[in-house]
Amino acid sequence: MVRLRDKASGTFQRLSQLLRFTRLLLPYWDKQAVLYLCLFFSLSFGLAQPYLSRLAIDFALIGRDLYLFNMLVLIGVVLYLFSIPIELIQKYVSFYVRTRVSFDLRSRFYRHLQLLSLRFAQSRTTGEHLYRLGPDLENVVSLVVDTIPSLLLFPLRLLVLLGICLWLSWPLTLGVLAISPIIYLHVRFFSKRQYGVLEETTRASQEVSSRLQEALALIKWVKVFGRERSEWRRYLGDLVSLIRLNIRAIRLSLFQSESSRLLNAVLVGGITYWLGYQVIRGRLTLGLMTALTIYLFQLLSALKAIGSLYNEVYLKFIAMERVAQTLDAQAEVTEPARPIRLKNPRGEVELENVTFGYVEHRPVLKNISLRFLPGETVAIVGPSGAGKTTMSYLLLRLYDPWEGRILFDGYDLRELPIREARRLIAFVSHDPFLLKTTLWENLRFGKPDATEEEMEEALRLAEAHHFVEKLPQGLHTEMGEGGFQLSQGEKQRVAIARAILMSPRVLILDEAMAALNSDHEQKIIKNLKGYEKGWSLILISHRLSTVQGAEKVYVIDQGRFVEGGNHYTLMANRGFYSQLFQEQLAKEGLRPGKMSCFPEGVA
Ligand SMILES: Nc1ncnc2c1ncn2[C@@H]1O[C@H](COP(=O)(O)OP(=O)(O)OP(=O)(O)O)[C@@H](O)[C@H]1O
Ligand SMILES: [Mg+2]
Repeated sequence: MVRLRDKASGTFQRLSQLLRFTRLLLPYWDKQAVLYLCLFFSLSFGLAQPYLSRLAIDFALIGRDLYLFNMLVLIGVVLYLFSIPIELIQKYVSFYVRTRVSFDLRSRFYRHLQLLSLRFAQSRTTGEHLYRLGPDLENVVSLVVDTIPSLLLFPLRLLVLLGICLWLSWPLTLGVLAISPIIYLHVRFFSKRQYGVLEETTRASQEVSSRLQEALALIKWVKVFGRERSEWRRYLGDLVSLIRLNIRAIRLSLFQSESSRLLNAVLVGGITYWLGYQVIRGRLTLGLMTALTIYLFQLLSALKAIGSLYNEVYLKFIAMERVAQTLDAQAEVTEPARPIRLKNPRGEVELENVTFGYVEHRPVLKNISLRFLPGETVAIVGPSGAGKTTMSYLLLRLYDPWEGRILFDGYDLRELPIREARRLIAFVSHDPFLLKTTLWENLRFGKPDATEEEMEEALRLAEAHHFVEKLPQGLHTEMGEGGFQLSQGEKQRVAIARAILMSPRVLILDEAMAALNSDHEQKIIKNLKGYEKGWSLILISHRLSTVQGAEKVYVIDQGRFVEGGNHYTLMANRGFYSQLFQEQLAKEGLRPGKMSCFPEGVA
C-alpha cells in the first residue's frame, strides 16, 4: 500500500516536472502550432496513401477506368508535392524550437549553477555538473520538443490505424492484436537493455575522458612521482572496460536485429499468406490486399514503438529529474530582501560570536569574536587547520555562520548585496589561479573596465611590474597552459594586483606571498600599507616574520580565539603565540636575536 502510494506520488512529481519543463515551449507557441499542423498533415497523408493505392488497383486498374486512374494519380502527386514543403517546414520549425529551448534552458541552468552555494558546487564532481549541463539537458529538450508531440499524436495515429484495419479486415486485425504483446515484450526486452548499456557507456566514456583530462593537466606531477606507467595502465584498464561495454552493446544489437528479423519474417509471412489466401478464395480484392498489407505493417511498427517509446521516456525522465535537482537546489547564501547600500564604506569588520562548520555538528569556528578596524593591518596566525581560511570564506560570504554574525561598518554582512560584499572584501589565496588568456584579461577579472594605468599601478604595488615588463608581449602575453608559464611567486603577485584592482576596503592575503622571499613580502606589505586609497589588511600567515608589520595579531587555535595583541606584547605574555614562535625559530635553526622583527630583550 505504502509502495503504491510512493509510486503514485513519484509519478505525480514527474508529471508536474514535465509540465514545468513543457512551459519552456510557451514563448514558441506559434511555432509549436505550425509544427502540430505539419505533423497532423503528414499523419493524414501517410494514412490516406495506402487507400489511394487500393482505389487505383481495384477500381481504376481492374475496372480499366483511365479517368479515375488519372484523377487518383493527380491526387497522389498533389499530396506528395504538398508533403515536401510541409516536411521541410516541420523539420525546420522543430530544429528552431529545439535550438531555442536548449539555449533558454542552458542559460537558465548555468546561471542558477553560478548562483548556488559553493557547498553545492563542491558536492559534485565537475564531470557530474558537465553531464547535467550536456547530455541530461539535451535529453530534457528532446523530451519536450520531440517526444511530447510524438506521444500526443501517437494514440490518435494508433486509433485511426486500428479503425481502418478493423474496417478493412477485422479478423486479421484481431489476429495481429492478439500477438501484439509478443511484439511489445520483444522490443521492451531489448530496448531496456540497450538503453542501459548506452547509459553505462556514456558515463564510462565521460569518466575515462575526465580522468584523462586530469592526468594530462597534472602531467608534471605524474612525471615527478614516476607514475607514467601506472597512468598508462590505468588508461588501458579504462579502455578495456569501454571495449567490454561496446561488445555487450554490439551483442545485444545483433541479437535484437536478428530476432526482430525472425519475428518479422513470421509475421510478414503469416499476414501475406493469409491475405493471399483470402484473395485466391475471392474474399479480398487485390487493392484491399495491398492497402491492408501497408496498414497492418504500419500498425505493427506503431505497436513496436510503444515498447521503445516507454524506455525512451523513462530514460529522459531520469535526465529530467537530475536537471530538476540542480534547478531546485536552493542557494544557502541568499540576497537580502531589503539590501543596504553603503555610501562611504569604511572597512570596519567585526565577527560577533561566530560559530560555523562545513559538516553538521562539527564546528570549525567556535564562538569567535574579532574586530578589524578601518585602515588597520592585522595578522591572523594559528596552526594548520585552525580555521583561518574558513574565517575568510565567511567574510566573503561564501558561507554564512551557523550562529553569531559578521558586521561590516556595523551592518550585518547578510544585509548587504552579495556582490557588493564581495567587492568590498578582496581575497588572495596561496594558490592563485590564472585564466588561460592574456595577463590583461586576467587582471580585468578583478575589474572588467580597468585601464592600463590602473593595471600598471596595481602591478607596481604588488611588486610585479619588473617581471611583467620583461614578458614577450607585456600585458598582452598569453598565460597558462600553452602560453607563458609564470613562477608561483610571480603568479601570487599577479593575483595580488588583481585583488588591488577591485579597490576593496578590506584585503585578505591568505598565505598569498608564501612563495616570495621575505624582502619581497615586506616590500609588498609596505606598499599596501602606504597606499593612499587605504584599506584594512588581513594577513594570514604561518611565517611569523610576516606578522612583524602588523599592528595587531590574532591567534586562533582549533577554531577558537586564543589571544590578541601586538607581536611584542604577545611574546611577553609567553602564551600560545610565543610558543608557536619559539617552535618556528627552533625549526629554522635561528636564535631570536637574529630576527630583525625581534627587539632585544623579548623572549
Ligand atoms: N569544504 C570543507 N569541508 C569540510 N571540512 C573542511 C572544508 N574546508 C576546510 N575544512 C576543515 O576545516 C578545518 C579548518 O580549515 P581551514 O582551511 O580554515 O584551516 P586553516 O587554518 O586555513 O589551515 P591552513 O593553515 O593549513 O591553511 C580543517 O580541519 C579542514 O579540514
Ligand atoms: Mg588556510
